[in-house]
Amino acid sequence: MDGTYQGQDTKGNQWQWPPSRDFLDAYWMPFSGNRHFKANPRMVVGAEGMHYKLADGRDLMDGIAGLWCCNAGHGRKRISDAIKNQIDELDYSPAFQMGHYKAFDLANRLTAMFPGDINHAFFVNSGSESVETALKMALAYHKARGEGGRTRLIGREKGYHGANFGSTAVGGMTANRKMYGNLVTGVDHLRHTHGIEENRFTRGEPQHGAEFADDLERLVELHDPSTIAAVIVEPLCASAGVILSPKGYLERIRAICDKYGILMILDEVITCFGRIGKPNASEFYGIVPDIVCTAKALANGIIPMGATLVRSHVYDAFMHGPDYMVELFHGYTFSGNPMACAAAHAALDIYEEDGLYYKGTTLGPYWEDAVHSLKGLPHVRDLRNLGLIAGIELEPIPGAPGKRAFDLWWKAFQRGLLIRTTGDTIALSPPLIIEKEHIDFAFGLLAELLAEQDKAA
Ligand SMILES: Cc1ncc(COP(=O)(O)O)c(C=O)c1O
Repeated sequence: MDGTYQGQDTKGNQWQWPPSRDFLDAYWMPFSGNRHFKANPRMVVGAEGMHYKLADGRDLMDGIAGLWCCNAGHGRKRISDAIKNQIDELDYSPAFQMGHYKAFDLANRLTAMFPGDINHAFFVNSGSESVETALKMALAYHKARGEGGRTRLIGREKGYHGANFGSTAVGGMTANRKMYGNLVTGVDHLRHTHGIEENRFTRGEPQHGAEFADDLERLVELHDPSTIAAVIVEPLCASAGVILSPKGYLERIRAICDKYGILMILDEVITCFGRIGKPNASEFYGIVPDIVCTAKALANGIIPMGATLVRSHVYDAFMHGPDYMVELFHGYTFSGNPMACAAAHAALDIYEEDGLYYKGTTLGPYWEDAVHSLKGLPHVRDLRNLGLIAGIELEPIPGAPGKRAFDLWWKAFQRGLLIRTTGDTIALSPPLIIEKEHIDFAFGLLAELLAEQDKAA
């Protein structure tokens, strides 16, 4: 076991490396190839800074900030201390009809980060819940204002908004939808903005395709605006392969929503907290959505935590009737959990003090050069980047979609780099503490692996 993990199970037995198939069988892993994993286990036993420690003793560079969530990197003592202190002070307080200071403080802090009158925060435990909350709020908002006929929700092809029923319904990644029947009905989708020929190999924001936003006009005409409650889009479709919004696209969606009284929901679950070189995408794109979804990096991915933020007119629409009455029949046992709030405050402290909100701007040009250095390597079909995000789109192997990227993922893992794949696109979204040496390692390795592809085949 030299160099391998020495931890013990609850009965005091040494963990086995590699673990037996029998031991691995009971856990049905989410969004995973369970059979591949159980035949090739990848056990993480520690994490520090930019790296994971694996059970076999190897280090693995985190090229994806966990799942786009550990923006301040791993092992941040300030956050773990905040959580420990919070447990001793107040472990849990009921989320309904009771409050604690840190939740109110966090609501003030978060709303101050956003432009315009985004003045209210509703706490949730994940991105999916943040979206679910936003969708329910949108329906209830129109009902509260006497426009209960506005029940239709508009998502976008290739969008990803989470794994619950509502978030799956407005999402547009076919593999995520096709097994689940009707999902939520009354949902339609904008066309996606992927594959615009003139945008291939663009550095940063793509210049072509703002007019794709006019697809919303088509849906408005088809369904009639009086039936549409809200449109939900990501600032960039991260999970579908880093599909960036064309310059001017989101502004145009905002304008069309205004024209027809439709709420605009911006799903910032990935983009909020520095991922694209500004504190959030609303600021980056200069728009004020009616509702914003956040989660992931809010507590640096350490404790489940999210927030759905709304403009004043949304909140105010509910603040009527007798004051002892519940205004919105929605919420979660763990909404605004004290530990999650403490972790979030500590994470925001780090982001602010270490300049991480702007790291994608300061280190962005170096990152961009590294991304585009892969141009011309075998089977590289497109390269996309924004802030500290990269999408490397590859030509699929005929008849085996996703296999080319998966093979690269596996090789990168064996060589000490964790990346993510979706279809045949590789995505990178490292902790924002990344430095040039890490970028050199990641793109140096990827260049090698890309160059080797056909030799290996
Ligand atoms: C844009 C977006 N929204 C929502 C979600 C769902 O978040 P969670 O997995 O925390 O439910 C994700 C997750 O990747 C996401 O990327």
